[in-house]
Amino acid sequence: MVANWKMNMDRSAITAYLDVLSREGRWPRWCSNGYRLLLSPPSVYLDFLAAAVRERELPFWVVAQNVCAHEKGAYTGEVSVDMLRDLGVNGVILGHSERRRLFGETDAHVAAKTALALSREIVPIVCFGETETERLSKEHSRVWERQIAPVWKEVQKARAAGSETPVYLAYEPVWAIGTGRTAALEDIREVAGTLREAFGHDCSAGLLYGGSVTDESLSVLVEKGTVYGFLVGGAFLDPEAVLRAFHHLTTHHP
Ligand code: PGA
Repeated sequence: MVANWKMNMDRSAITAYLDVLSREGRWPRWCSNGYRLLLSPPSVYLDFLAAAVRERELPFWVVAQNVCAHEKGAYTGEVSVDMLRDLGVNGVILGHSERRRLFGETDAHVAAKTALALSREIVPIVCFGETETERLSKEHSRVWERQIAPVWKEVQKARAAGSETPVYLAYEPVWAIGTGRTAALEDIREVAGTLREAFGHDCSAGLLYGGSVTDESLSVLVEKGTVYGFLVGGAFLDPEAVLRAFHHLTTHHP
């Protein structure tokens, strides 16, 4: 379960958030049962969060929201995979629709970033999904294939070179992000089916869903066993909602 904080939180808010989560003593047990919390802060707080999580001995993963598509050099304002690795960051969210839409990120950039992350054993969480217009014109499954094809090619290359780092694909329809509208179960099943058909079973196995997920909507989707995990924005700015979600999951699916 990934909490994408986007451009929110500061050091005192992060400390208060961890204070709430630290009141729960069952994290190690939940984690060994296969439930893990991934926290994704703005890049300037990765180091602070990673140190705080280590100090409190919380079994959370720290995940970046982006990384540069180049290894090193004259790229003012960028952060490299080696820097993430140096901080002990476990994973990175790639190709979020906000990055594609507002910062001109292309499918080729996302594929290059995926390859770099895998080369440093950083888990890529690759977002994809259609806009409302693309869905209305029934282009959505072609959009998914177009977005994932170059990424999956890089994953195959990395696998051939011996990489065992997991890769998660996060279906995040643009019309569902921050809108209060979530995708229906059938939409998510269609995504899983399309990925399986186009790229094989491995591709659909680690499917995450994101887009206006709350601790309540998450319980419904998980009941039906359609997704492996969730990418949650707004709702998980509240640590109490994170606790409610984990309580629900671990009670109903121990
Ligand atoms: P949301 O964001 O949960 O606020 O819709 C999800 C995301 O953009 O990752």
